[in-house]
Amino acid sequence: MIEVVRVDPREPAQEAIARAADCLREGGLVAFPTETVYGLGVNALDEAAVRRLFEVKGRPANDPLIVHVASFDQIGALVSRIPSTARDLAARFWPGPLTLVMPRSTAVSDAVTAGLDTVAIRIPSHPVAHALLSAAGVPVAAPSANLFSRPSPTTAAHVLEDLDGRIEMVLDGGPTHVGVESTVLDLSHGAPTILRPGWVDIDALRTVLPRVDVRPSAPDSTDAMASPGMLERHYSPRAPLTLYEGNTDAAIERMVTDAREAHREGARIGVLTVSDLVERLRGRLAPRVAAHIEDAGAASDLPEIAARLYAALRAFDAARVDVILAHVPSVATGLGAAIRDRLYRAAAGRIKRT
Ligand code: TXA
Ligand code: MG
Repeated sequence: MIEVVRVDPREPAQEAIARAADCLREGGLVAFPTETVYGLGVNALDEAAVRRLFEVKGRPANDPLIVHVASFDQIGALVSRIPSTARDLAARFWPGPLTLVMPRSTAVSDAVTAGLDTVAIRIPSHPVAHALLSAAGVPVAAPSANLFSRPSPTTAAHVLEDLDGRIEMVLDGGPTHVGVESTVLDLSHGAPTILRPGWVDIDALRTVLPRVDVRPSAPDSTDAMASPGMLERHYSPRAPLTLYEGNTDAAIERMVTDAREAHREGARIGVLTVSDLVERLRGRLAPRVAAHIEDAGAASDLPEIAARLYAALRAFDAARVDVILAHVPSVATGLGAAIRDRLYRAAAGRIKRT
């Protein structure tokens, strides 16, 4: 039986944390909140536990894990060298939603790194994550606590939707704050390169580093498999999602046309959009046409959209829609880049430009 333990997100009870830490040290799988999304933790030094983690998630073995630690001094054992840029970034952004890819040491197994000669490391800031990592005393490998290709969990209920009965324990610390996964920055060779955009954006990184490159995210990328974990279908609700990009008026017209056509063909339709456009879409699409309209938050409030995005995607599963039509005005900078990246992945190539 899975044990769900509610904890105060600011001051988790020591007893609950100690039990979860014991479970990790004994090879168990423990889901816990971080400031980004819920992670599914295992002792990173326990190969059998790491292999079970891949099985439970249905995650391909070529997709490496992030190793989480409580403090910077734990990193020395995990890497072959600490780039000086890592120290500067850590001073500014850790603990926090930034993951650094560095050359790995032999202490980290191929199971964790998918055979790469690098390891991804993060010091999360969430008090529950921090308490758990401190109490466990071992590095904790933790992917997002969802089944492979599903939206990452931002609540304990999301974790249970995907993993109930398959893991030992969930620490329920309420909804996560950031809502999208950490920024992944590769420091292992060449110029520092953003592999996955997140809360810590390129402008923030450039306050510390003279040069930061960005690996283009799918579907702009001609080489989506250049790094593992950048698989096309990702963060997906069960129904296929089509993303309408470009001019809002034109996007709405096209969504309305497509929704009516899909409705005629008997499909149950879901619509994802921003608060600013909900009423307009309701005015154009009767409830019998658009069965479920999901409000992702105010267009001007990117943190709100990021925080709500995955819950919104999961809500379409509960509403049992057959297709999802999405229009979230695109913002290329800051957190907008992270939101756009996740929507692109959820759409898995189904993008209509207007
Ligand atoms: O916010 C987060 O990062 C969450 C919380 C739980 O910390 N974790 C998370 O883990 O999103 P996951 O496994 O869902 O995503 C890890 C990403 C993948 O895109 C993976 O390919 C990349 O990090 N990654 C891990 N190790 C890597 C490495 N050595 N080189 C390049 N990319 C790596
Ligand atoms: Mg994930």
